[in-house]
Amino acid sequence: MKMWAGRFQKEIDSDVNDFNSSISFDKRLYKQDITGSMAHAAMLAEQGIITKEEAAAITAGLLEIMAEIEADDSILSADAEDIHMNVEALLTKKIGPAGKKLHTARSRNDQVALDVRMYAREECGSIRAQLLSLLSALAKLASMHTATVMPGYTHLQRAQPITFAHHLMAYAQMFSRDVTRLNDAYARMDEMPLGSGALATSTFPINRESVAEKLGFSDITKNSLDGVSDRDYLLELTSAISIIMMHLSRFSEEIILWCSSEFSFIELDDAYSTGSSIMPQKKNPDIAELVRGKTGRVYGSLITLLTMMKGLPLAYNKDMQEDKEAFFDAADTVKMCLKVFTPMLETMRVKADNMRRAASGGFTNATDCADYLAKKGLPFRDAYKVTGQLVHVCIERGIGLSDLTVPELKEYCPLFSDDVYDAISLDACVGGRRVMGGPAPESVRRQIDIISVFIENQTRGDLK
Ligand code: ARG
Repeated sequence: MKMWAGRFQKEIDSDVNDFNSSISFDKRLYKQDITGSMAHAAMLAEQGIITKEEAAAITAGLLEIMAEIEADDSILSADAEDIHMNVEALLTKKIGPAGKKLHTARSRNDQVALDVRMYAREECGSIRAQLLSLLSALAKLASMHTATVMPGYTHLQRAQPITFAHHLMAYAQMFSRDVTRLNDAYARMDEMPLGSGALATSTFPINRESVAEKLGFSDITKNSLDGVSDRDYLLELTSAISIIMMHLSRFSEEIILWCSSEFSFIELDDAYSTGSSIMPQKKNPDIAELVRGKTGRVYGSLITLLTMMKGLPLAYNKDMQEDKEAFFDAADTVKMCLKVFTPMLETMRVKADNMRRAASGGFTNATDCADYLAKKGLPFRDAYKVTGQLVHVCIERGIGLSDLTVPELKEYCPLFSDDVYDAISLDACVGGRRVMGGPAPESVRRQIDIISVFIENQTRGDLK
């Protein structure tokens, strides 16, 4: 028998019952649901809406139910539709009439709004902690490679020499922005919606601030229609998660390239690689490929949520029940990816010699050759042209710029002298770029210091 049987003449069709039921996925909100209900019951007693004894019975019953669900969630039934009605039904069965008072001055609409917010803020905290670990791993790895020269690329063509640390710290910047994006999303989701009721609050003298305080929210939602129908916070969080995935995916793409024998810049640890069922020689970067692949499903969740919300009139609509699976999947996926990604980085072997060899080909010092002439007074555009001609000659002869003799160089520009070789050496190209943000070891060390302070501050401060 349904809770609303009074109004109905017929039992619900069984396919409709299954179609309508969300317990198979919203059961994971049981902790938030029960915690929220305990705060609500305590507030009802404080306000004299129910008695202290009733509140005590409700709390004791809810705690037992929490333990029972934890032990065996098959006590939850599709007939009771969702986690909210399941908990209420179990409570009433357990403690009798007092259980029926729990839903006073409350609707499932504000209840689910509360539960999902509580769940989302916990997820936000976990993802943030995982990002901070990834940042620590990056800073540590970078500090070992401030002198590991590698080619920097544009258009996937070797461009200018950088260091492996410089490259890693670019990702550290991205992930540090992701941390602050989560902080921002958290700040906006930190409002307690319970008390919004079905859509228009309640005539009972409830105390919303008290519930907010009990549940650790900084504030309460300010409009009841918005309180039950706002899912912006999920959109923001899923969009922050999508951006994290995009960053992880770019990084994965590079790891996949670096593992190829054509690059051979790194080798992943055996524990983070897979073999082939037919080709005995293979060692595949499946983890990185899966992270790249899973990015698509997270974007899918974001689009699901955006599309779900775009045509909804105020206030609650059942469409919003679809928010959970999309968000759960996005959060589960990013957590799973971060869990394997960080140790994959920590355990990989860096092939510094190959990186350096790659940087010494491909004329990555051509800009520095032009700069050398420009520093001797030749306008940069002319210096650029001379260097272009030299590159052309070198390509024809299959040599590098530093293989040309000074007399050969002088044929193209009299400003060349013996000091050119030092000026266009890989270490000079990297070491000379000491500007903040640049690849010179001392510049990257400054970047690492800044990120380390960031990690420390963010680890110390919680999300609020
Ligand atoms: N299971 C529902 C959801 O997830 C709970 C709210 C139901 N409210 C309603 N009026 N049907 O959205």
